Amino acid sequence: MYYPEELVEEIRMKNDIVDVISGYVRLQRRGSNHMGLCPFHNEKSPSFSVSQSKQMYYCFGCGTGGNVFTFLMKYENATFQEAVQTLAERAGVNLPEVTYSEEMKQKESRRTKLLAVNKEAAKYFYYLLRKQEGAQGLQYLRGRQLSEETIKKFGLGYASKYSDDLSRYLKHKGYPDELLQEAGLCTISEKYGIQDKFWNRVMFPIQDSNHRVIGFGGRVMGDGTPKYLNSPETPVFDKSRNLYGLNFARTSRADNMILCEGYMDVIALHQAGFGQAVASLGTAFTQGQAGLIHRYTEQVLLSYDSDGAGVKAALRAIGILREASLVGKVIHLEPYKDPDELIKNLGADEFRKRMAQAENSFFFELRILEREYDLSDPDGRTRFQMEAARKLCVFSEAVERENYIEAVAEKYRIGYEDLRRLVGSHAAKEGLAKEVIRPRSGIQKKNTPGENAEKAQRLLLTWLGEEPGLYKAVRNYITPQDFTTELCGQVARWLFEALEAGRFEPAAVISQFEDEEQQREVAALFHARLAAPAEDKKEREKAFHDILVRVKTNSYEYYSARMGSDMEALKRVIEGKKALEELKNTHISLD
Ligand code: GTP
Ligand code: MN
Repeated sequence: MYYPEELVEEIRMKNDIVDVISGYVRLQRRGSNHMGLCPFHNEKSPSFSVSQSKQMYYCFGCGTGGNVFTFLMKYENATFQEAVQTLAERAGVNLPEVTYSEEMKQKESRRTKLLAVNKEAAKYFYYLLRKQEGAQGLQYLRGRQLSEETIKKFGLGYASKYSDDLSRYLKHKGYPDELLQEAGLCTISEKYGIQDKFWNRVMFPIQDSNHRVIGFGGRVMGDGTPKYLNSPETPVFDKSRNLYGLNFARTSRADNMILCEGYMDVIALHQAGFGQAVASLGTAFTQGQAGLIHRYTEQVLLSYDSDGAGVKAALRAIGILREASLVGKVIHLEPYKDPDELIKNLGADEFRKRMAQAENSFFFELRILEREYDLSDPDGRTRFQMEAARKLCVFSEAVERENYIEAVAEKYRIGYEDLRRLVGSHAAKEGLAKEVIRPRSGIQKKNTPGENAEKAQRLLLTWLGEEPGLYKAVRNYITPQDFTTELCGQVARWLFEALEAGRFEPAAVISQFEDEEQQREVAALFHARLAAPAEDKKEREKAFHDILVRVKTNSYEYYSARMGSDMEALKRVIEGKKALEELKNTHISLD
């Protein structure tokens, strides 16, 4: 860890979790918790809970959770250190300058290294664009009517026409070959040696929402193929969870986002004053990207190409937007192919007009559907109406469905009651659109002994988290060593020490783990609901006693099996036997 534990703890305590998360998620008070829509998965009713007393959050839908650092790491795609830095700044706490020793550098995560090499590559491309070598690139970008300011804002660059120029430069800077390869900047083969992925292209650095370069798109300067090359996915470049232009669009003041297909579209739109434009990354629009957009706005204006492929892609995107509860509308660009061309030919004002006239996405779908039928023929008309009724079943909310039935009936001159009946019979046959299934495994299987031991240890930690007062009784029988699984052991050591000192904060233990996945598990420990019925004291006492016995028994068996090889084990076995006998004959009161 770079920063001392006490400092990390001070920063955590100065950033109230409800305050911090409220800056990102609309929360409402419910009993002792604050609830909201989970920003980490798509949902329509809130299962994301933030506890002020525990200073932790947890989502009962998708199981993510943690403390205020975890939240920032996950939401902002940040490392633990970055989360600490952001929150220190927020609370006005001064952080000491960290000097990176060789050892620390070694330990730097893969992620950090990949981000560093990407940044260096972006800087190099940017530099080359202004050199004699890059003249052709600069000329190409200017030819596409990009201003100096725009080129600078998006950090556009140029990759040299020598196919090992970048690798040589980065190697010279001290970056190892494997890192360049892992970053997708070059390939290494026996036949050709090291070869850059991008050469003789204008370069578009792709940034995450925090302006960090995570990958590249490179375009040929003319009509060659492939037109674009894109970086492959890497540990820092997840194409389904990032959007081109989002780093700027997230702070635009518009109440919508414009979704387009290409990098050039985004850039042209920003240059024309539409700072809310974003695009997917050379791949189809995804659920994850819809979730990202949902953090900032509810309304998406689709500005896809007007050709066949664009319409098809738009239809797909509309479905995804609807599932994420986003309102989608379609901007018409005809007779132009894409927003870049439209603006070039008709100007920003015309684009603004077309935004205002954007078509409801359901009507857009119907209009495309209509093309397949001959509506002047009674047969074609009937089949179209049946299909429209089937499509109306996507609206699972009754009010919304009714409104659409009414609007469709009017627009296509179908009898309202007839259409309603048709929709009803479809829904009866095939059901209305279902809620998205949450990623949670409901499969019940028999646990192995190891899993049972772990379950008991987790439960005991959950009990202690819920009722720290129980520690006084527990410590007579149980020690942290009785927690034989790694994560529980680590949490127990820390928790017992804290309880012994009379200060207990479950959120603090989370900062002991730098790994997001572990933080999630620890948060889950302290948010697991206790199965025993809360009202019946006797039942509860029995359940609690039972868990203590299970934890102790497991520990006894665990150390018995290791007596041959572990000197400590014998001691533990003797102690364990004694404690277990005592425990079995003791009544533990929950008062
Ligand atoms: P211009 O044609 O220069 O105006 O670029 P554009 O951004 O308008 O691109 P276009 O609409 O043709 O394509 C949309 C997006 O698809 C691009 O921004 C790229 O991300 C991706 N793309 C286009 N062509 C290719 C290709 O040949 N290969 C790959 N991998 N991706 C491509
Ligand atoms: Mn284009």
